[in-house]
This record gives sequence, C-alpha cells and structure tokens, in this order.
Amino acid sequence: MSKPVRVAILFSGRGSNMETLAQHLAKPDVPGQFVLGVSNRPEAGGIGLCTRANIPCAVIDHKAYDTREDFEADMQKALASARIDLICAAGFMRLLTPEFVTHWHNRIINIHPSLLPAYKGLNTHKRALDDGAKQHGCSVHYMRAEMDDGPVIVQKHVPVHADDTPDTLATRVLAQEHVAYPEALDIVLEKLASQQP
Ligand code: GAR
Repeated sequence: MSKPVRVAILFSGRGSNMETLAQHLAKPDVPGQFVLGVSNRPEAGGIGLCTRANIPCAVIDHKAYDTREDFEADMQKALASARIDLICAAGFMRLLTPEFVTHWHNRIINIHPSLLPAYKGLNTHKRALDDGAKQHGCSVHYMRAEMDDGPVIVQKHVPVHADDTPDTLATRVLAQEHVAYPEALDIVLEKLASQQP
C-alpha cells in the first residue's frame, strides 16, 4: 500500500468546499489525508471548521506582510513542515506568484465558479447573467502561472434560469462545486498515489 497523499486546503472564507473535501478525505478508501488548512484571512469562517474537525490551521494574514513573496515564504514554511504533497485551493482569494505555482506544478489544484475558460476572475455569476448565458457552472483545474488558467480536471454545468439573480445562480453552482471537487480530487489522488513511495 502506498502512503496517503498529504493534502493542504487553502481558503479565505466560509469554507464549504473545504468541508466537502474534508468529508471526502475522511473516507477510508480515499488515498489522501487532510493534514493542514491554510487561511489568509483571520476572520474566515473555515477556520472554525478546521478546529471542529481537529485539523491544524495555519492562519497567515497577507495584510501582515509587505510583499507577496514574504507572505508566500511563510506559506511555504507551513506547507513544508506539514510535509504536504498536494494543495487544494478552495475559495482562496489571493493571487499566487508564478514562482509559487511553478514550485507546486501539478500538485496544486483550484476550483473556480465558471465554465473555464469563460469568466476568469471575479463576479462570474453576474457576468454570466449580464451576457445572457444559458449555461454556467464550475471547473476544477490544475493551477498554472496565469490566473484561473490550467488543464481542466472536472467541469459541471448548470442551466441559467430567466429569473436568476447572481445569488440564486451562485447557489446552484455551489451545489455542483461540492460534487465536482471530490470527483477531481479522486482523479488527482489516483495519479499522485501511484507515484508515492
Ligand atoms: C466558491 O464558489 C469558489 O468556487 C469560489 O469562492 C467560493 C468559496 O466558497 N472561488 C473563487 O472565486 C476563486 N477564484 P466556499 O468558501 O464556501 O468554498
């Protein structure tokens, strides 16, 4: 049996995707282990989820750093000391430098609330509605140096309804995020687990 893949989850807010991944990783047949949460915001709701699940959480407040590089150096220290193999960004609202992303090449994945490559960046639901899009959704993808770029692992589509608001559409997409992320994680874990000693 190969060793379980050690997973860190990066988040900035309420942490519903982190919670979904945590539940998935707790299943005995999933070859990964959730060993570290990382939040860049001390007020993030997800921190309480880590505490309740007994998972250590590194709170690394980006506002306490003069540069992105210094902030990321402390993130790298926390990730290294937890011997992390794979990073899942789950609502982590901080741009990572190309150096950081390259360091974790194919070992850092992200969820984005749109059908990439459509609607990279913020306010995806409002932009889809403003465009009159009939379909919207979410994507889990390998991270690359460009924001919201990189090979897609799993996408889920949802219909856009005529009376949707950004909030109603976000709720429909979020339900699919909670399906897409565990599916994508399984695909990535299988690849990584086969490379573990
Ligand atoms: C999710 O909708 C996620 O796709 C989005 O933030 C939300 C976090 O919710 N991420 C991005 O927009 C990244 N560009 P959560 O904290 O409940 O998981």
